[in-house]
Amino acid sequence: MTVQNKMVEIKNLYKTYSDGETKVEALKDINIEIYKGEIFGIIGLSGAGKSSLVRCINLLEVPDKGQVIINGKDITKISKSELRKERKNIGMIFQHFNLLMNSTVYENIAFPLKLIKTPKDKIEKRVGELLEIVGLTDKKDVYPSQLSGGQKQRVGIARAIATEPDIIMCDEATSALDPETTKSILSLIKEINQKLKVTVIIITHEMEVIKAVCDRVAVLDKGWIVESGSVTDIYVNPRTITSRKFFKSIDTKLDNRVYQTALKEPGVIISAVFRGETSTDPYISNMIKNYDVEAAILLGNIQSMENMLVGTLVLRINGKKENIEKALKYLKDNDVIVEVIGDD
Ligand SMILES: Nc1ncnc2c1ncn2[C@@H]1O[C@H](COP(=O)(O)OP(=O)(O)OP(=O)(O)O)[C@@H](O)[C@H]1O
Ligand SMILES: [Mg+2]
Repeated sequence: MTVQNKMVEIKNLYKTYSDGETKVEALKDINIEIYKGEIFGIIGLSGAGKSSLVRCINLLEVPDKGQVIINGKDITKISKSELRKERKNIGMIFQHFNLLMNSTVYENIAFPLKLIKTPKDKIEKRVGELLEIVGLTDKKDVYPSQLSGGQKQRVGIARAIATEPDIIMCDEATSALDPETTKSILSLIKEINQKLKVTVIIITHEMEVIKAVCDRVAVLDKGWIVESGSVTDIYVNPRTITSRKFFKSIDTKLDNRVYQTALKEPGVIISAVFRGETSTDPYISNMIKNYDVEAAILLGNIQSMENMLVGTLVLRINGKKENIEKALKYLKDNDVIVEVIGDD
């Protein structure tokens, strides 16, 4: 990736909160690159530092050290007035919508446009377009209290994109919504990302959100980025315990039922992860035929990712040792990710 393709670059960023004697190191040596036009996820448990990171990216919070480079400009080094201008380039979407309760839907969406002194006729035209994009044309004159949670978030989204920012950041934007509404809000965000070419940063503690819309993801744990990369890569092969908790479709190591079975019966227990094309090919039956082994399915699961299907099987394989070795090699050679999780 060339420099021009990066929308956000965070370099060696640290953030500590100090309150007299107590110090909380909320962010430690954060390094992230977010490309133009992508949907980038940041996932972490409560207290991991997600909101701190958001506030450092839009510089509501000043980092102790490190750089936040947006569209090539280091915003830790610019003046307050320049910063105000830069902030307008980032639309924010919040968990609790943060709408003006005494203002109508129209006024809520018009608000950021008024702030930058957009002429009235232009505001009217733009709000009309935005209402159409988020599907709320008929709710123009109602108050937020008359809207459902999903509709409120649609207003929040329209407001966030009103001034045509390059970036929108969603901090737990769907966490207050039910699963169906979450889906519709995520597909709206995806649509906006594609049609308007906005770079989207999604902060969440929910794996489902990451899987549904993100291209790449960073896993945040106690202030550190413990892993980052393409969602499917991390999903099929998580390298850290924290990532495993979020990403592993079947946590075989922790699944006691599998272990109990494994202990009782002879054989090698493996997990096999099939991605995309490999998920439809008959590798298991080929393996059984060609290497003279038996395979029993202990657990199975198929997940639909942003642009790929991923299947996981936990198998017990029996046969001669050298045949099992060859069988596993055969799977690996065919791009199946194999992990031995128990062996008699
Ligand atoms: N203003 C503050 N003053 C002192 N400590 C803070 C402040 N804001 C956050 N922290 C601490 O920093 C750490 C990270 O908090 P942060 O809000 O970034 O987590 P989070 O990942 O957004 O959590 P959640 O999912 O619960 O929103 C926590 O230990 C928190 O207590
Ligand atoms: Mg938070």
